[in-house]
Amino acid sequence: MHLKTIKNLLVTGVGIGSLLLAGCNQQRQFEAEAQSPTVQTQSPAPATEPTQPQERSPDVPYVPTPQEVVNQMLQLANVTSNDVLYDLGSGDGRIPITAVQNFDASRAYGVEINPELVQRARQNAETANVSDRVQIVQQDLFQTDLSEATVVTLYLLPDINIKLRPKLLQELKPGTRIVSHDFDMGEWQPDNVVQVQGPSRQHTLYVWTVPENVPANLQ
Ligand SMILES: C[S@@+](CC[C@H](N)C(=O)[O-])C[C@H]1O[C@@H](n2cnc3c(N)ncnc32)[C@H](O)[C@@H]1O
Repeated sequence: MHLKTIKNLLVTGVGIGSLLLAGCNQQRQFEAEAQSPTVQTQSPAPATEPTQPQERSPDVPYVPTPQEVVNQMLQLANVTSNDVLYDLGSGDGRIPITAVQNFDASRAYGVEINPELVQRARQNAETANVSDRVQIVQQDLFQTDLSEATVVTLYLLPDINIKLRPKLLQELKPGTRIVSHDFDMGEWQPDNVVQVQGPSRQHTLYVWTVPENVPANLQ
């Protein structure tokens, strides 16, 4: 084989290897954060409106996005008063609440399967005085109708992002922005990847825009 070809293959291999390694490290970091006592021991907020029993176990454990990273996610998505935001797997509601409170989104929805977190998020929206524009829906995110969204935020896991990808591409309008914290969407190349410094580590943010025509390999 030609020397230059071998060199190119080696460089590409190392590049893909480091990306895979970075992805694995981020997943390990995520799993460690999910076990952290500060995440596990927060007590549920008092009930706002009744919730249903949890329909099934979550696909991803609860790990909150640090507030400064939330701000960066919404800035990267360029959220304005024209936007309707959906946070899929919304935890304590910090992303939809911030979208309305600090970015003036016209409405924001948090979709969350865990009833304790649904209650906590509803209480947080009331405390922040935004419950007229923030709705926390207790639902499996795979069942959510996304047709109204103009911005979608995710902090899930790589395999869940990939499982969700066909739904995002089918239901979202062209031009809708998607921002994912720490995890990519496989073959769907992001428009932008940004590293941001959080309180204890670096976070990676991925941004996509839903295309007019969806390539066959992504459906
Ligand atoms: C990593 S946390 C992210 C929370 C929030 N988006 C944030 O960034 O702070 C993932 C959340 O997704 C929720 N979740 C997991 N599987 C879900 C599903 N199938 N439907 C709805 N919510 C789900 C979990 O309960 C958890 O609160």
